[in-house]
Amino acid sequence: MAEAARLPASPEIRARWDGFAFTADNEAQAKVVVGRYPPGRQHSAVIPLLDLAQRQVGAETNTQGWLPIPVIEYVARYLSMPYIRAYEVATFYTMFNLAPVGRYHVQVCGTTPCMLRGSDDVLAACAAKGLKKGHSTADGLFTLNEVECLGACANAPMVQINDDNYEDLTFDSMTAILEALARGETPKPGPQVDRQTSCPEGGPTSLPEMATANHDYRNQW
Ligand code: FES
Repeated sequence: MAEAARLPASPEIRARWDGFAFTADNEAQAKVVVGRYPPGRQHSAVIPLLDLAQRQVGAETNTQGWLPIPVIEYVARYLSMPYIRAYEVATFYTMFNLAPVGRYHVQVCGTTPCMLRGSDDVLAACAAKGLKKGHSTADGLFTLNEVECLGACANAPMVQINDDNYEDLTFDSMTAILEALARGETPKPGPQVDRQTSCPEGGPTSLPEMATANHDYRNQW
């Protein structure tokens, strides 16, 4: 993720985002989030509030959202914490974008299990569709980034696109997903092979009788 772009607070960014404030709905949501923490511990709400702010920026720009520096400053002020503390959080987690992203933010896991299971093929499928790591496509539809483990290693290789995971990918299935998104469709998230969540492909391979009923195995031991 070292190549992830960061945009400085240029005069244009300041002009566009210095007046950022939560919408009435998000303000109400922010109050709920802050209320979950004990008095004096409101700083703990920084991650959900940065996420809320990023989603609001996304809604205002018809993208997946990002965090301009004035928006991070707003969240820091909202929580009465030093700006640098909020900035540290925003720069640590790859869920926060520090430069504009497209309508679909394609985050390809390149960590060892996904790499061994074919993340190079997934990246090749992205490249074949004109996606370049760390960049957005000219039509603003896709942004591609490579990220570290997203916690779905059992179904490697996988990508996260916006809020969904797509798993058990191949060059062809990744291509089909990108094409479906470009057509405005919503491809089925999760495993792209015949399995439920991270269960074995094709159905259970151990304790198969338990798949449909509470089978008693005790006299078979
Ligand atoms: S290594 Fe890719 S999800 Fe864990």
